Formats: sequence, C-alpha cells, structure tokens
Amino acid sequence: MRSVGLFGALFFALLAPDAFSVKTNDFKTCSQSGFCRRGRALSARAKDAASSWKSPYSVDASSVSISPSEAVVTAAVKSSLYPEIKFELEVRVHEDGVVRVRMDEKDGLRKRYDEAASWALVAEPVISKDVQWTAGKKDVRAVYGDLSIVVAYDPLRVTLLRKGREQVVLNGQGLLHMEHFRAKESLPEVQADGAGEEAQVPIKAEKLRAWFEGEEEDAFWDEKFNSWTDSKPKGPESLSLDITFPNHGTVYGIPQHATRLALPSTTGDDATFSDPYRLYNADVFEYLASSTMSLYGSIPVMHAHSADSTVAIFNAVASETWIDVHHPTSKSSHSHWISESGIMDVFILPGPTPEDVFAQYARLTGSTPLPAHWSLGYHQCRWNYVSTDDVRTVQKRFDEEDMPVDVFWLDIEYAEEHKYFIWEEKTFPDPVEMTNDVAAVGRKMVVIIDPHLKRTSNYPVYQEASDLEILVKPKSGEGEYEGWCWSGSSSWIDMFNPGSWEWWKSVFKFQRENGWSWTNSTDAVHIWNDMNEPSVFNGPEITMPKDNIHFGGWEHRDVHNINGMLFHNLTSQGVAERTTPHKRPFVLTRSFYAGSQRFGAMWTGDNLGTWDHMTVGVQMVLANGIAGMTFAGSDVGGFFGNPDTDMLVRWYQVGIFSPFFRAHAHIDTKRREPFLLDEPYKGMIKDILRIRYSMLPVWYTAFWESSRTGIPVLRPHYVMFPKDTAGFEIDDQFFIASSGLLVKPVTEKDITETTVYLAEDQVYYNYFTEAPSYGSSKGKRITVPLELSTIPLYIRGGSVVPTRERPRRSSPLMAHDPFTLRVALDKTGFSAKGDLYLDDGEGLTYQTGDYVWRKFVAEKNGKKGVRLASRNLSPAGGEYEKSIKDVRVEKVTILGLANQPKEVKVVGRDEPLAWTYKTVAAGDKGKAVGVLVIKDPAVLITQDWEIVIDV
Ligand code: NOJ
Repeated sequence: MRSVGLFGALFFALLAPDAFSVKTNDFKTCSQSGFCRRGRALSARAKDAASSWKSPYSVDASSVSISPSEAVVTAAVKSSLYPEIKFELEVRVHEDGVVRVRMDEKDGLRKRYDEAASWALVAEPVISKDVQWTAGKKDVRAVYGDLSIVVAYDPLRVTLLRKGREQVVLNGQGLLHMEHFRAKESLPEVQADGAGEEAQVPIKAEKLRAWFEGEEEDAFWDEKFNSWTDSKPKGPESLSLDITFPNHGTVYGIPQHATRLALPSTTGDDATFSDPYRLYNADVFEYLASSTMSLYGSIPVMHAHSADSTVAIFNAVASETWIDVHHPTSKSSHSHWISESGIMDVFILPGPTPEDVFAQYARLTGSTPLPAHWSLGYHQCRWNYVSTDDVRTVQKRFDEEDMPVDVFWLDIEYAEEHKYFIWEEKTFPDPVEMTNDVAAVGRKMVVIIDPHLKRTSNYPVYQEASDLEILVKPKSGEGEYEGWCWSGSSSWIDMFNPGSWEWWKSVFKFQRENGWSWTNSTDAVHIWNDMNEPSVFNGPEITMPKDNIHFGGWEHRDVHNINGMLFHNLTSQGVAERTTPHKRPFVLTRSFYAGSQRFGAMWTGDNLGTWDHMTVGVQMVLANGIAGMTFAGSDVGGFFGNPDTDMLVRWYQVGIFSPFFRAHAHIDTKRREPFLLDEPYKGMIKDILRIRYSMLPVWYTAFWESSRTGIPVLRPHYVMFPKDTAGFEIDDQFFIASSGLLVKPVTEKDITETTVYLAEDQVYYNYFTEAPSYGSSKGKRITVPLELSTIPLYIRGGSVVPTRERPRRSSPLMAHDPFTLRVALDKTGFSAKGDLYLDDGEGLTYQTGDYVWRKFVAEKNGKKGVRLASRNLSPAGGEYEKSIKDVRVEKVTILGLANQPKEVKVVGRDEPLAWTYKTVAAGDKGKAVGVLVIKDPAVLITQDWEIVIDV
C-alpha cells in the first residue's frame, strides 16, 4: 500500500467492481438474457413435443449446387415458419478432412456478422479438390476415406460419419433456428406447411411459429438488466443450433469456465449445473470455483470423446453464447448452442485421435509459437511493486536467498494516473536504470498496458487515438464512447478498425518519427494486457454496452468475444517489431478467443487464495490447453486473500507445473514473496523454484513440440490414453507433452496421502526417490504418502528426461550449463527415448534452422546390455549450435537397469567411464530396480555419441 496511501485505497475500493459484494448479481443468468431464454424455451418445447418435433428448416433440393472444381456444395434453405425468408447453406470439405458448415440469411433486411472466423483463422483453409459431392433425392453427400458428410434435405441435418457410424450431427434435435432480421411491426399472416404432428393440416404460420418459437416476442426489441437498457436496434437475430455427438460420451473444452475438465451436464436428469455454460468475456470479481458463469476468455471449441474416437467442433461465433450440455446416455453427448448474433459457421474436426483433432484445429487457428525461453522461468508479480527502489530490493532479496526468478512485473501503479506507458515520476524516476539493473543478470520486466485510455489531452496516447478517430463509438455512432475504468473517464481503441493497427504497434517503439515516444523503456520490458474483455466498471455486466459501435458499423454485441484477442494480437506484434531484428514478444492476456494462442500467454484471472481455486486452476489450465490456449497458468498464491504457508507451498508446487508460472497478489494482501517466509517453508519454496529451473529444458522442448503439433503442453489423461475409459474424467493429474513426466499436484490441505492413476502396464519411476511403481493394463491407482514437501512426480518408463541442475539466479545464466539425462527404461528394461530442443531463446533465427534438436535413444545391447545414443535432428552448423559447442552432459542416470554393469564406455574411446550402481525398492508393491549413475561421461550435447553399458 505504500505508494497508494489511504486515498488510493479508498479510490480502489470505490472503483473496483463491487469490491465488497457478491458478484453473481452483476452477471446475467440464462433466464435474465432474452435470447438465451428463447433458446432454452425452444429446447423445452422440443422436449415436450418429443417425437412429433421436427425442425422447420429444409434444403430446397432443386437449388443444390456442387462446385466442379472444389469440394463445396451450396443450397437454398427455407424455414416453414417464415417461407418468405431465404437462407443459404454452404458446406466445404477441407484438404485435411475438416468440414465447414456455413449458413446465413440471404437478401435479409440486414447483414449478419460473418467475420468471426476471419479473426480466428490463421489462413484461409484449403478446400479439397479431390473430395466429390453427390446429390441424391434426399441428401447431398461426400464420401472420403472412411468418412462421409451427409446433408439431409428435410429436415436439414448435417451428419459426419466414420465407417457409417454417426460422429457429429448438426440439427439432429431440430433446435436450429436463425432468427431473421425483421421490421418492428408484426408480419402479415401467411399460410405454411406444418411440421411434426401439425404437418397433416396446412396451418397458419403464426400457429406454427407459436409451436416452434413460442407465443410471445420475448425481449425482441430492447432488454433491461439491472440499471441498463440494451437498445437492440437490430431486433432479434439469435442463432440456436444443437450439435450432437452420438457414440461419444464425454465432452471437453469451451473454456473458460471454472469447472471440471469433462464437462458436467447442464440439463436433464444428470444436470450438475442449472445454467448453460456461458461464453461472454467478463471481468468476474471473486469468481466461483465451480460454475458455468462466463469468465475472461471464450473459445467455442468442444471435443467429444469415446474409446473409439475423438471429434471436435469449432463454432466460430463472436457474440454472447450459451451452451447446454446433456448426456442422454453414457455413450452420447448433446450440446445446444445459443448465440446472440452472427451467422452459422461451424467447423467439424473429424479426428479420429486427440492428436488429429489438435492438428486439425492448429491448421485452422494456429498454434502457440515457441515462446521466449526466459518466459518459462518464474515471474514475480504483485499489485504493486511501488517504486524503482522496491523492485531493486525485491531483486536483491531473491539473490540473497539464492532463489531463481526471471521476471519482475509492474501492475497499474507504475503509470501516472493510470495513463499506461507514462511512468509515475515520483516513484519511478529512473525506469531505464531500474530495468537495466534487472536485465544485468538476464532478467526482464513486464509492465501492464490496459486498453482503457484516460480521456485527457495531457495523455498523448489517448490524444493520438482521438485525433485518428479510432476509438469505439457509442450507440449513436458518433464521437467517442466514454466509460469508467482504473484511469477514471476512459475510451477504448477500436482494434477492429484497421486504421488503429500500425498506430498501436508504433506506440511500442522507443523512438517514433511522429508523436510521443516511449523513450524511457528498453527491449527488456515486455507487456501484460489486462482488462481487455473489455472491463468497464460502469458498464452492463462490467463491460461495454452491446449497442456500442465498432468499425464497419458492427455493434459490440457482434464482436464482443473477439475484442480482447485483437488488443493482444496488435500488442504482441508491436513488441516483436520494436527491435530490428525482431525478437519473440511476451504478452500476457486476460481475455482471449480462438486463435489467441498465436499471440502469447494467458492466465486465469482473479482467483481466490483457497484450495478450491487451486484445484480448479489446474482444471482450467487443462481446458484452456485443449482449446489451443496452452501457454496458461493461474496466479500462484491466489490473487485475493492471504494464503497460509502450507497453501503457499502447495501453490508453488502447482505453479512449477504450469506452462506459465507467475505469483501474483491483490493490492490489499500482505506481501508474500517467497523470501519472506520462515523456514522450513522458505527452503521448500526455494527447492520448488529450483525444480522448475532444472526442468526448463523439458518445458522448452515441450513448447517446441506443441508449436509444431498443436498438442497442448499439459496433456490430460484422455489425450495420453484415449482408449482408457477410466481416465476420461481425470483432471487432477497430467503429462508434460511427450516428456514422460506425470504430475499429480496436491491441492488439498493437510492430506497425508494421495493416489496417482497409472493407466498402462508400465513402470513409472518416482522422480525424486527413483522408486518404481507399476501400472496395469486395466489401470491402477498407486498410493503416495505425502509430506508438505512431497510432489508426486513420475517418469514414465521409456522416457529420457534432460535437465540442467546447477542453481542460477535466472534462466539466461544457464545458457552454457551442462545437462543431466535421466534415462527411464521401460518395462522391458532396455528401451527409452526423449528429445531435447535448444536455441538462442529469444530471436527468430530458429525459424530458419538455427537450433539444436537432439534425440536420445536407449536400446538393447547384446543380450543384457543397453546402449544410449544421442542423434541429431537439426540442420547442422548453425550459429547457435556453435555457441554451445562446449556444453557437456555431466551426468546420466539409467533407471531400471536390471543388472550391475561390467563396463560402461563411450563408443570410440578406450577409457571406461566411472559409474555407481544401486538397487531401489519399489514405491509400493513390485520388484526393486537397479539405478546406474554415470558421473561424467564427457560427451557433448551438440554431438552424436553412444554410451554402451555392458552387463
Ligand atoms: C485485474 C487483474 O486481473 C489483476 O491481476 C490486476 O492486478 C488488477 N486488475 C490491477 O491491474
């Protein structure tokens, strides 16, 4: 509180959204949202009508048109509710088998928002030229490989089948409804063909509409919530769509929600939650640890999984969306998507393995590019380090205690009156010197840049944006929207306006030709984008009014969920491009959408310092990962509250196994930097931090792998063992990429034991004690006794884990440190393999081949021996490779070597190597294993070599 003072504290208490009340009242439930009510009522009517329910939407068979050159079919669709309204359907099959289904209103009164996918996609997908559509009397279909996509005409139904089995069905429950644009006065009565039980007799369209849409026009033209009124000038335009996954009993994804990874039902007898999952990026104060409420980011991606296959859908919609989930049987899943506006634009990802789904999604929206190496170290944040001296003192204390840390963060108080970029001179008089002091040991700083610009002419960033007329407009479409945020009266850049892009990027330059320059910054300063949902303290649901106007005349309602991604995207480009040659940017975002993974990391926002939040944080990081957002983490320690020491220790143990590892705390909390703790806790956290640092080679290699495959860095059980039904619900343990490391974070207070599930008939070695545990092909739980310092961490038999074990103050100081290899032989006792990826850590030359990628392979040698080889997977002779040519392997540990060796040698050398051999008893039941330690094999990391163990 030092720099903020009493006035500051009061100011925050007043400004912080409902600082002292329960926040659920600030956010809508489905029953308070007109279009969600309408969507759910539709589904309730369908349920009541049961088998007589029939979707009024059908394809006009005579309109079906098949492209002669590409796998595209288009057709006219009509709804018997409104025969005069035209819809157009287009279904494309991409080269990789993904199917894209689009439907829009044709020649409507207005245009529906159709650009959501264009912001999410990394490139326009390539449409297959080989797949052929064939039109029949009842449907048009394309068969390719063991897949077929069938568009049935009446009712309209789109089905993806594999080997004749249904995988994904759109409109299988008949809940498709695209509310067409209409004038406010009521429509004339028309005759129409009925549907379902009414189909026999021609009935008045109004009756049919009432049967399908309900009697009343519920919240069509305006809508009130608390003290706000949404003017809804375009009237109703929602889109309801059911997506069924027959033969797939478990669904995952649609982050971000504080829920289990395997999504519990929201309707039906098995419902855990009463409200649908909501996707509407929101700044939810003190969010619940188990809820379907919206949080800061939205990724409309859902995986459906069974022992036979994994499929997924990406529903490219940017408006507020509610999703009901229901599992009618243990073998199938239903979802009902209700969106406020936008066209139907659904990508069906056929799988059939989780890896295939990740690759298909990554081809659509990209993967997380390899981050700067330092960004995988430990980040120390707090709201706020209050001065340059404060930062220096914190750095000094870390160094005195020999605790590694890579990044110090500055929250909003560094900025004069919360005018981001502008240092508060009284407390940060020497920001460049401070940054240089931090950078002297390879460390970085991250400062916060929020999207709200203080509306004052003495803030050049605001003034330039205002002059350029690139700020979001109020509902009148004129002038600048004004709302309230940390900086008081504020405006927001309209990142949908291309005119804002080059300008915003240029603001990160240290010297600009025109306008204000951020001269008192350096390239060791990276960026944190917060509040970009956007958070507006005096707005409806703490965000922008939906009738605000963006570039192109689109309402905020149409683009809301994408808003945060654009700010993140342009910030990350600005940071990358501020230096020549460009460097990898680090930008943390709170708000995100499909595709945000291309721009940096995210965190799970303002969690609470409770055990429940620690638990759900792990589940949220897993869920974000499967929807692409793999560079993820939660505030270590919990943002709100003062965790006790036990909790803090456990939270650091969770943190070191998060892709993004940052401690953060609210301004009202007590200081809790790890050096402040008493022993033994201080020592425990020091050890925990050192484990993270020793494993940086694993994390970096994991990110390298994820950047190429789209497979998340943290892999839940169903991704590792897709056929193991017992693992489908597991979300409290996970693997780190393909490293073979299995982690079970402990997130409960005072427990003295836990269990770890081993899904296969394989040996797993305790990382710390080296004791083996044995799984079973039927799946087996092993019991692990716990002390506060115990981290259940296992190496799967068959893996090679590279580490660097010398404690350093920051990760760049480890660049020339030697490696240790843990070779965990599999159950045969002979085989293991693993990868190591290295490069200069922050430049982009790795993209043109300047990196080191080694493969370590252990195999049988003779009858009983083992041979360990290091092979090259990288282009030879790069600058980086040369720079580490002296870096050695200083220790090799072989776990699971059945017999004591006679001799250990490097092939090509006469001198045998020194080694020790011991036996380690099993963790629970089962046989002991031998562990061989080769002390100094004197082999180089960049060279090919073979170590032969003669037994
Ligand atoms: C809200 C963010 O979620 C939190 O991390 C940050 O400390 C505050 N804003 C102040 O910037």
